[in-house]
Amino acid sequence: MIRINENYTKLAASYLFADIARRVNAYTAAHPDRPVIRLGIGDVTEPLPAACVEALHAATDEMAQRATFKGYGPEQGYAFLRELVAQRDYADRGCAIGPDEVFVSDGSKCDSGNIQEIFATDIRLAIPDPVYPVYVDTNVMAGRTGACVDGRYEGILYLESTAANSYVPAVPQAPADLVYLCFPNNPTGAVATRQQLAAWVDYAKRNRAVLLFDSAYESYIRDPAIPHSIYEIEGARDVAIEFRSFSKTAGFTGTRCAYTVVPKTVVAWDREGRPHPLYALWNRRHTTKFNGVSYPIQRAAAAVYTKEGRIQTRALTDFYLGNAELIRSAMGRLGFPCVGGDNAPYIWVNIGRDSWEFFDLLLERAQVVCTPGAGFGKCGEGHIRISAFNSRANVEQALERIAAALK
Ligand code: MLT
Repeated sequence: MIRINENYTKLAASYLFADIARRVNAYTAAHPDRPVIRLGIGDVTEPLPAACVEALHAATDEMAQRATFKGYGPEQGYAFLRELVAQRDYADRGCAIGPDEVFVSDGSKCDSGNIQEIFATDIRLAIPDPVYPVYVDTNVMAGRTGACVDGRYEGILYLESTAANSYVPAVPQAPADLVYLCFPNNPTGAVATRQQLAAWVDYAKRNRAVLLFDSAYESYIRDPAIPHSIYEIEGARDVAIEFRSFSKTAGFTGTRCAYTVVPKTVVAWDREGRPHPLYALWNRRHTTKFNGVSYPIQRAAAAVYTKEGRIQTRALTDFYLGNAELIRSAMGRLGFPCVGGDNAPYIWVNIGRDSWEFFDLLLERAQVVCTPGAGFGKCGEGHIRISAFNSRANVEQALERIAAALK
């Protein structure tokens, strides 16, 4: 008799954003005359930068000619892109990352979900609350947790991010083996200082732990004192894996291109206490389960690093940050304390009441979609996340409708 992976039965029935989409679709089907504005899932709305589009066209033309046609590429990504990443995203910021330590992929969602496969199932996990649900759900699926009791899985050390710690969790007393961190943060938009990140690197060294650092939103950092990469912290090369994405930087949510950095110096141990470089394990996994991002898409991603690409992607992130500023000010004027939105495309709004009820209220009275904080974890209750990814006209209209609905 074929049997299921029963770990899946511990999960909530559907993924947070799938659940929200289902509710919104039901609402629009029942009220076709009331168009909704979506500030829920962080999905970009503005077109690809012209430099990326040109590179995509040129690479497509190459695929049309026998002499320049490409079949399978290297699973880890083409050298032209890995070299640009190593130089421009790391060496230029003083971080020593080699091109061969960069693994190009089709998304940070997949990579941050898949990375747990290379670790033992009985390790101790430390995961922020609230958090991007992928980190928790993939560990539940893999059997690293017990049941979900009162909104929390047994076996996870939750790193609470609340108003009391300005939504940046402190390093815990208790030891953990694998720590998930995300800065600029999804969902809160909070950023971590150099000192706060240094404390995590120190914690990882003391506990022989590994940090999984998701910096998918680093291109939204405007404060020059805030690190863009965990590798800006001394010693991080020995304890941290970093995830980066072109999705929010260059509008690639539908185009799909990201990368994960696994320095050759990061190790984890087997049961006999022998160290193993995680680089080798991730390389093994990646080459076995992934066949690489398509050549035209990698060319489009490489165009982000051209002079025009830099200017255009900066204009794109500036544009969304302009939306974020409008949202943060408008919600503040309505009396809600907010964080985020200044170095991140998300605004975390302290609504002080049930977040799903508030989600329903905004959907029904304002036809605006937000994300209820409870969907990101227990500490997310009493908050909503508003995404700055939409056109200016839609953001302005959504804010007018929210103000009218809450009068
Ligand atoms: C979000 O809304 O949290 C993000 O769009 C999710 C993602 O990037 O997968």
